Amino acid sequence: ANAGATAAPAAPAAGKKISLGFAQVGAESGWRTANTKSIQDSAKDAGFDLKFSDAQQKQENQIKAIRTYIQQKVDVIAFSPVVESGWDTVLKEAKDAKIPVILTDRAVDSKDTSLYVTFIGSDFVEEGKKAGKWVADKYKDAKEDVNIVELQGTTGSAPANDRKAGFAEEIKGNTHLKVIASQTGDFTRAKGKEVMQAFLKAHKDIDVLYAHNDDMALGAIQAIEAAGLKPGQDITIISVDAVKDGMTAASEGKINFIVECNPLLGPQLMQAVNDVIAGKQLEKRIVTKEGVFTSEDAKKVLADRQY
Ligand code: AHR
Repeated sequence: ANAGATAAPAAPAAGKKISLGFAQVGAESGWRTANTKSIQDSAKDAGFDLKFSDAQQKQENQIKAIRTYIQQKVDVIAFSPVVESGWDTVLKEAKDAKIPVILTDRAVDSKDTSLYVTFIGSDFVEEGKKAGKWVADKYKDAKEDVNIVELQGTTGSAPANDRKAGFAEEIKGNTHLKVIASQTGDFTRAKGKEVMQAFLKAHKDIDVLYAHNDDMALGAIQAIEAAGLKPGQDITIISVDAVKDGMTAASEGKINFIVECNPLLGPQLMQAVNDVIAGKQLEKRIVTKEGVFTSEDAKKVLADRQY
């Protein structure tokens, strides 16, 4: 498939830096911090004039930032949409202004795919499936119910929707695998801790925690330890991201399995910006390659983990 270029961008005047407006989700997690650094470092390496904004996990702030970039007539706009829905109007405004838009990390649910050039990022359904498959394998011989609690990411975000769906798909074949509670922890450590405290209060018999990111798992670990339980032993923990703090907890046996979500999207994004400006056709979807880590794997790679 190709992008079917949304708008023919005007090449920047000779000697002028390429300007890129980037509307980031926020600074909610270790993953996001690494993602922001990757984008800022690679924009610098590419010699771009980067205009960067942090939406503090609010869609209206992102929309405002995108409108500012349109007014500033940047060459390209890129953003990581906090939620999937509600982007058509502002994307149409960018298209009318002939400014190409690149999605990174998270998708939008717009039916009109000509509103953006490409989407660079992970396959979140696949990530949820990897987590679910590991749980299904671990408990394949279970004779009793396995009680699972789930900490979801930000409500309405692509990773929360997709990681939930992928996980559910993989465990549905075993009726002993029961998700007894599922609530958002907004991808943050503080909320992960708070919701896990509530889960522990409401349910005395939790066997498994599936957290949609490491930060929520790390917050939940604090709650589990405060309740006098051993994370990774009394409660099996699976999370997504594989940031350094998550990998450290995995190497200590507190997280049993981590599905990788790669935040280092900067180089691919800058390449895409150059290609768009050069008038090249881009693939509509650029999927990031990622792995998985058990506690043993985490021990081996921890020292080299950069983020
Ligand atoms: O969109 C990617 C997700 O957003 C990461 O898994 C999570 O940590 C972040 O906040």
